[in-house]
Amino acid sequence: LRIAVLYGGPSGEREVSLDSGRAVLQALRGLGLDAVGIDIQPAALQQQVADSKAHIVFNVCHGAVGEDGLLQACLETLDMPYTGSGVLASALAMDKWRCKQLWRAAGLLVTDGILLRRGENAPDLGARFGWPLYIKPNHGGSSLGVSKVTGPAELDAALQCAFAMEDEVLCEGAVIGHEATVGILDGRALPPIVIETPRAFYDYTAKYLADDTRYLLPSGLGATLDQQLQTLALKAFAELGGRDWGRVDFMISSGGQAHLLEVNSVPGMTSHSLVPMAAQASGMDFPELCNAILRTAQR
Ligand code: DAL
Ligand code: MG
Repeated sequence: LRIAVLYGGPSGEREVSLDSGRAVLQALRGLGLDAVGIDIQPAALQQQVADSKAHIVFNVCHGAVGEDGLLQACLETLDMPYTGSGVLASALAMDKWRCKQLWRAAGLLVTDGILLRRGENAPDLGARFGWPLYIKPNHGGSSLGVSKVTGPAELDAALQCAFAMEDEVLCEGAVIGHEATVGILDGRALPPIVIETPRAFYDYTAKYLADDTRYLLPSGLGATLDQQLQTLALKAFAELGGRDWGRVDFMISSGGQAHLLEVNSVPGMTSHSLVPMAAQASGMDFPELCNAILRTAQR
């Protein structure tokens, strides 16, 4: 059985994905499996997959193309089994705004926000959300293009930064409290992790470069809230039709209310990444985690 590990690709999260891919390749080979790496080129993807002579795809491409349903659609046309969510769930998970609409309709609590479209007049965001507020590209990942805006003077630059990346931008109110995340593996929720950073927020630097980001595991939130988060994560993932594995991110208010932020359908698998950390805490080392993800695709 040959496994093609798809990684890299054209998105802004390319470097993160290369790290994830190298780690997964090394782990699979360490297990004695026949794994080849493919740095995906969207226009050549069908050929790349065919040339690899692989029987199954382990996908660790983050962001555009790899995580948003395009790659999944291509693999469907090739009748190639692959890890992770299918076309629609991937596309929804990558679209923060439409994902939230769906969760709201299902009665799940989400962070308050509105969608801004390029060229449309924005409402008075300060009056609507207060400060600080967050501006993010609607289809972004790894916090690229995201700004925490602490007052009116910073707003224009934040909007420009996000609109430089795409035509749809999300404005969200701040939830003062904790950021937490729950990994999902094969229908099971992993233990929640609370993230603390001395930076303004958990941005790209805090995610991948800084050594002062703190990951609390156990979360310190208490057993009841931990369990609520796990249940909520599974529900949110199921509402999208998510499959195999993923990670659900939350903001928790100081009163202990969990607000959904987003789902990642191809979460990071780097040495700094959260799903491997949570798996480790539940007794599963990195190669075992890779093997478990791989098995979900073989059914
Ligand atoms: N988008 C990055 C890879 C993550 O969620 O881990
Ligand atoms: Mg994300």
